[in-house]
Amino acid sequence: MSAAVRTAGSPDAARGLRSLETEHGLPLVTVRDLYVSYGEQAVLEGFDLDLFPGELVALLGASGSGKSTLMKSLTGFAPVTSGSARVAGHDVTQLARGELRVLRSQVGQVFQQFNLIPRLSVLTNVLTGALHGAGAINAVGGFSGAHRRRAMELLDRVGIAHKATMPARSLSGGQQQRVAIARALMQQPKVLLADEPVASLDPKLAGSVLRLLREIATHDGIPVLVSLHVLPLALTHSDRIVGLRHGRMLVSAPTAELDPTKLAVLYDEEGRHDDDDH
Ligand SMILES: Nc1ncnc2c1ncn2[C@@H]1O[C@H](COP(=O)(O)OP(=O)(O)OP(=O)(O)O)[C@@H](O)[C@H]1O
Ligand SMILES: [Mg+2]
Repeated sequence: MSAAVRTAGSPDAARGLRSLETEHGLPLVTVRDLYVSYGEQAVLEGFDLDLFPGELVALLGASGSGKSTLMKSLTGFAPVTSGSARVAGHDVTQLARGELRVLRSQVGQVFQQFNLIPRLSVLTNVLTGALHGAGAINAVGGFSGAHRRRAMELLDRVGIAHKATMPARSLSGGQQQRVAIARALMQQPKVLLADEPVASLDPKLAGSVLRLLREIATHDGIPVLVSLHVLPLALTHSDRIVGLRHGRMLVSAPTAELDPTKLAVLYDEEGRHDDDDH
């Protein structure tokens, strides 16, 4: 095996993680030997993952390999059968409902379809990101001035402050995804999860959204996990690539050290759990 492609559990993997720890501090996400099943179907089978502050990690794997399920397991939305997942100090598999709410307020999420409220203004959509926390709504039922100022700052940061009063539905896909990112940042997340955030965007917009996500990882010092289907985007925009196959982490390597031909194994026919074509 190439030194650059580390199989989970190998001495190379352990060395790689130790050097990441030194570089970035302790991991904010630690998944160990995680099993998730939907009825009889095992989806994650002994999955391991560490995410460190400040890194953008691209999650690759064939359709049906369990990428979305992994993301759901980090916020307590997947049926975990055994193993552990620690996220921002919470042991996800052990949390009571109230504690799950706290965890979810600390994990920002971005989705392929943006999930904005189309008729509401861009600014209001961003403000809804604050609803997880206390004090967002004032006595007359509006958002507080401080929250409005913060939402405007975030819109400025993602480059669309000039659209603040427009209904979300009037924006292009790339702009809507920027609104969704600003909404996630409004939560002041400790971890950001983005499940195929650029799958609905043209290549140029996809690159600009991924650059923004990476800038957030670096500048805010949080881990950003991004599932992707387009290999060149992962190679250009990630610090590390994690590859999923048969519900296990098969590849984890710094992108700069990775031989891309080694990723073909993730997409071998026998690596697929269904015959969905993407
Ligand atoms: N809610 C569910 N109920 C039953 N089975 C599910 C559920 N969610 C996912 N699965 C199954 O788990 C497997 C993994 O699905 P998942 O959505 O995690 O894959 P993925 O890697 O995100 O795929 P894609 O690249 O197509 O988004 C699939 O076989 C899927 O059918
Ligand atoms: Mg998916």
